[in-house]
Amino acid sequence: MDYIKKDGSWIPKLGFGTFNLTGREAIGVLEFALDVGYRHFDTAQMYQNEDVIGKVIGAANVPRDRLFITTKVWGTNLNENRFLPSVEQSLKQLKQDYVDLLLIHWPNKNIPLNESLDQLVRAQDKGYCKLIGVSNFTVDLLEKVEARGVDIACNQFEYHPFLNQDKLLAKTRSMGCFATAYAPLAKGQIVDIEILKNIALKHKVKPAQVALRWLVQQKDVVAIPKSSQLYRIKQNFDVFNFHLTEEEMVQISDLQSRNKRFIDPEFAPTWD
Ligand SMILES: NC(=O)c1ccc[n+]([C@@H]2O[C@H](COP(=O)([O-])OP(=O)(O)OC[C@H]3O[C@@H](n4cnc5c(N)ncnc54)[C@H](OP(=O)(O)O)[C@@H]3O)[C@@H](O)[C@H]2O)c1
Repeated sequence: MDYIKKDGSWIPKLGFGTFNLTGREAIGVLEFALDVGYRHFDTAQMYQNEDVIGKVIGAANVPRDRLFITTKVWGTNLNENRFLPSVEQSLKQLKQDYVDLLLIHWPNKNIPLNESLDQLVRAQDKGYCKLIGVSNFTVDLLEKVEARGVDIACNQFEYHPFLNQDKLLAKTRSMGCFATAYAPLAKGQIVDIEILKNIALKHKVKPAQVALRWLVQQKDVVAIPKSSQLYRIKQNFDVFNFHLTEEEMVQISDLQSRNKRFIDPEFAPTWD
């Protein structure tokens, strides 16, 4: 495993995405992921699985300081009245005193950004989280975070071989943040791409591993693939035993001209 060091935290560059994993299925999957060696778990209030994650990590024989847990505050909880109580509820569900990283999941145009940012800082001051950050923030919004003087550690956004995020990545890095790539496998669509298949053959791995390697080999980039299939959970974790050449990195980057986006950050979910 490779790590990013940020303000005293060590962030595993490969984490486990948990969107759409709930109930009994989630328990087995999360226990298996822990056994495989995943220590970084990405959840959110919106995923409705914080309780399951709390149960599994609570029962696991892994010291808390070896885990890295991220959760995200949903758009309806971003105002002054609801922000901190919602984080307290998340911590209760997760059975934790703190999370390692707390993110604003999605900007809500109906709530002033500075109000949400101030609450995020308050959550950190109260010890509810070690690091703070944002998700689905564009360059414009990151500039607003800077203007408010809030010291975030992370921007989480969609990033995979079919989507060029050079500008957003450059802005994220310039603020001293790391980037967490969500939908890193392009929702599973990377498996049938000839270039990825050829590179995978050379390294005796699978196309999904090549896509993940391409991400984690980039400076300050973390990837959080999700799978509910045990063999893929194992496969996705095994991306630190091979190295892509410069030429291979460029070949994969060329796929970004497809400009395929699964989630549009400009699309505002209907709040309330
Ligand atoms: N901040 C945000 O707004 C936001 C938005 C989206 C996602 N996320 C986070 O990012 C995580 C990952 O994103 P995602 O779940 O949307 O997409 P993803 O990880 O790119 O893709 C998941 C899909 O790929 C399949 N898959 C997994 N491993 C595979 C492999 N080795 N070979 C072939 N197919 C494979 C999975 O199917 P199986 O389950 O059948 O293996 C699933 O259908 C989420 O779980 C969530 O934690 C955050």
